[in-house]
Amino acid sequence: MTATITPTTGSHSAILGLGAYRPERVVTNEEICEKIDSTDEWIRTRSGIRSRRFAAVGESAVTMGIEAGRKAIEAAGLEAGQVDCIIMATSSHYSQTPQSSTLVADALGLTSPGSFDLSAGCAGFCHGLAVASDLIRAGSAKHVLVVGVDHMSPSLDMTDRTSCFIFGDGAGAVVVGPSETPGIGPVVWGSDGSQAQAIRQVPTWQAMVETDTFEHPWMRMEGQAVFRWAAFTIGKVAKEALDASAVGIEDLDAFVPHQANQRINELIVRGLKLPESVPVADDIVETANTSAASIPLAMEKMLREGQAPAGGMALLVGFGAGLSYAGQVVRLPEAPVKS
Ligand SMILES: CC(C)(COP(=O)(O)OP(=O)(O)OC[C@H]1O[C@@H](n2cnc3c(N)ncnc32)[C@H](O)[C@@H]1OP(=O)(O)O)[C@@H](O)C(=O)NCCC(=O)NCCS
Repeated sequence: MTATITPTTGSHSAILGLGAYRPERVVTNEEICEKIDSTDEWIRTRSGIRSRRFAAVGESAVTMGIEAGRKAIEAAGLEAGQVDCIIMATSSHYSQTPQSSTLVADALGLTSPGSFDLSAGCAGFCHGLAVASDLIRAGSAKHVLVVGVDHMSPSLDMTDRTSCFIFGDGAGAVVVGPSETPGIGPVVWGSDGSQAQAIRQVPTWQAMVETDTFEHPWMRMEGQAVFRWAAFTIGKVAKEALDASAVGIEDLDAFVPHQANQRINELIVRGLKLPESVPVADDIVETANTSAASIPLAMEKMLREGQAPAGGMALLVGFGAGLSYAGQVVRLPEAPVKS
């Protein structure tokens, strides 16, 4: 019993490249209101959303993930063969088996990567980023492609005015790799399964199998419960993520909260006493809530429009189904984003 396990030495981790995919079709609030008793003004004032993108027929979590993933690898200046792990954060790959990651990896030409899907709703991307960072720091992987993607539109009951206007489709991806300095701080995460029914699929696959009937499965949401939980919880999570990285709030160059509702984010910002000089992501206005894609897409918009500097310090915090959350401080990539 003298042998010991000698791990390969890990390194610091950082985001090396960022890519985004937004479907072409823009869906306005006016179009949404053709099927529900609501108005553009109600949707804008209650959520901040003006429009969203819906995927075309034939597009999916896999096709959108491929587009964003390809751009992230290009942005990182790597060849696909150098990526040795892929994590797909998604809750809308509409097939239980095989996992979407393996299909995306094959289309991108990754060579025999570690490959798995991760389901944590709108907090999925920050969970995936944490896992990728720790894989690199432990020496288990060299370059990890983390794709946050959701194809929400097929699961939206467009006659349900309490939820249909909130969501959109899209994909954002990052390559996480080795770095000489720390580029991704410790994750602060958690969940409250006692409120799991606040965002759910109805009916479940299990119910359909047991009754041998097909009913279109819809996403249902208790909006007020989610709102209250997020407004109460997420500010504290954001503060803990800053403390875990020993980063002062005044040192931030960007705050990138999940794009669920602009009013929730305003409450978080107020609770955090975020200095007015720190820009806050506002991708929700034209993209709505793209679930696991929302944070990488919001980062992409801030970098593309020059709201946040390349290499700047950003605080990310995702939250949603579960109910679950995850947040961390990161250095935004130095390399130009691929939009
Ligand atoms: C969905 C959400 C925008 C609704 O806003 P809200 O201010 O909480 O609205 P309420 O649910 O309290 O409803 C207020 C009233 O508007 C009505 N209403 C609901 N949806 C409506 C719509 N689309 N148009 C017009 N009226 C609407 C309600 O019936 C209610 O009417 P009543 O007062 O006569 O009963 C908000 O709860 C929310 O964003 N929640 C978080 C959702 C979320 O983030 N989900 C994803 C998590 S990742």
